Amino acid sequence: MGNELDLLGQWPFPREELEKMKEGVYIPREKILRFIHGKKNNTRIDFYVSNDLFHVGKMVIPAKGSSDIEVHNGDEVIYVLKGTLNTRIYNNRASKTSVINEGYLIYEDEKFLIPRGLKHRYFNFDDEPIEFLLAVASWKNSNSIIQSREDENRAKDEPEFGLSIPSWQGKYPFSPEEKKPAVLRKQDAISMIYGREPDEIRCYIYISTDEITLSDYWICPGAKFSPPDIHTGDEFYYVRKGTLILTNPDTGRTYEIKKDEAFLIPKNIWHQGFNFGNENVQVLTIIAPSLWSTEERGTEIAYTKKPVRFTGRLQA
Ligand SMILES: [Fe+2]
Repeated sequence: MGNELDLLGQWPFPREELEKMKEGVYIPREKILRFIHGKKNNTRIDFYVSNDLFHVGKMVIPAKGSSDIEVHNGDEVIYVLKGTLNTRIYNNRASKTSVINEGYLIYEDEKFLIPRGLKHRYFNFDDEPIEFLLAVASWKNSNSIIQSREDENRAKDEPEFGLSIPSWQGKYPFSPEEKKPAVLRKQDAISMIYGREPDEIRCYIYISTDEITLSDYWICPGAKFSPPDIHTGDEFYYVRKGTLILTNPDTGRTYEIKKDEAFLIPKNIWHQGFNFGNENVQVLTIIAPSLWSTEERGTEIAYTKKPVRFTGRLQA
């Protein structure tokens, strides 16, 4: 038996295997890579995915607990699932003994961006454990920045609707040059309607840097999104509400992903989601490095800018 730590970077499968499989990977509880994290302060981390593009896991901080200080070579995004997360961001220029640092409060269902290279620490000041999804873009993925700059230049000449990458891709809430920590609340989301009549669904984009994108989408009971989707990065799904039925239209393989379960859709794999249940399905999605490129996009998109507006069968 090898060391569990050796599995980091190739969980649930190394890239070569994913490429051979040409299929998504269902990640139920039994397929989670679990660790105790931290030297001084112990937290729990459940990794769903750890590969060459991103590391995605759920962190649990016990009541009145905290993490060690950490720093990553990639942008980090957070989605708070349970409780209220306090974070402290250390000013890299401040002296080591400084007692004053910026703090951020992230409530349940809110999102947080920590740009690469910033030292940070998580705190739980409450009596209940807190849980949050976190994803860190992989530092190995150095061409993502170049890619998004190319797209940016091209996007200037393209119409706002129709076949185009959306104007926010790679630069929300900040462009690569201006990135800083940010808490993203519901009202900060960019609303996007994905799909073609009558199969539109609503999506909200919270964070889209040149390395990683965090969003969620909703499917009403009995609905689906169409056409199927495909991305230039790996996509991680976490079902927050309801039961998602997900199919790969290329192979016909179909999966049932229940609340609090996860799924990995490797890059360039088609996927289409359905809701056969009687409550809304909410799926949190994290994509690294990029959603769509103007070269390889396989899908038509139309999106709306703020303010958020819904029509017809799209319901709250
Ligand atoms: Fe997708």
